[in-house]
Amino acid sequence: MPKITVVTMDTLTDDQKDKVKEIFVDSYYKEMKALSPKKENLLRGFTHVLREEAIHVAMLDDKPVAMAGCSTNKRRSMQAHKTDFLANFGMLMGPFGTACFKKEFETPLQINDDTLYFECVATDEAHRRKGIATEMLSELIRTLPYQTFSLDVYNTNDCAKRIYERIGFKETGRKKSLIGKIFLGYQENIWMSRPKSL
Ligand SMILES: CC(C)(COP(=O)(O)OP(=O)(O)OC[C@H]1O[C@@H](n2cnc3c(N)ncnc32)[C@H](O)[C@@H]1OP(=O)(O)O)[C@@H](O)C(=O)NCCC(=O)NCCS
Repeated sequence: MPKITVVTMDTLTDDQKDKVKEIFVDSYYKEMKALSPKKENLLRGFTHVLREEAIHVAMLDDKPVAMAGCSTNKRRSMQAHKTDFLANFGMLMGPFGTACFKKEFETPLQINDDTLYFECVATDEAHRRKGIATEMLSELIRTLPYQTFSLDVYNTNDCAKRIYERIGFKETGRKKSLIGKIFLGYQENIWMSRPKSL
């Protein structure tokens, strides 16, 4: 297992931040490609979406290799950016993407003050299956001052669900997703959580 360190995105150089954005767009291309199939448009459209102080990045030496958004009931780790969305996704998908993004990522989470919620967990494709996501999430659970950690995962994402279960997350509920069913080929979001100490 390669030795990683975990830092917040706001401490990185511009080149390293660009790499984090690339990991984000590559890893969620399937979800984002309806906005634009062109990766360069997605990178520009999502330039200001990640809230850097809430994005934790796994570094291998000085190279970003994975990321996890850490949200609370007061602050999400992502935000819509209407101007960038309009400029890069057009007059139809720009407003549609802004509305979907606001609904999905700017709604306050119904979680307690002592709960942290992981979202947009992703590993650089070249560094997958080396235990990096497992190590990054385990490190965040060890070090961040929260008593409960939660997340949700598509019911079709077996790989991610297995990782979360191995780390100690247990299913707490399921919610049907119309957007998932129509656009993304999944039916339900599975909510999972684990206490800090198992
Ligand atoms: C899901 C995701 C974050 C996993 O990242 P990762 O760094 O590859 O995860 P890990 O390496 O910790 O674990 C993945 C698998 O590699 C295996 N693995 C870990 N270390 C390994 C090693 N040294 N050699 C071989 N396999 C290894 C794990 O056992 C696990 O196997 P499994 O799928 O059979 O359970 C990554 O696939 C990704 O970015 N996917 C796209 C975005 C996404 O779906 N995110 C989750 C949204 S909820």
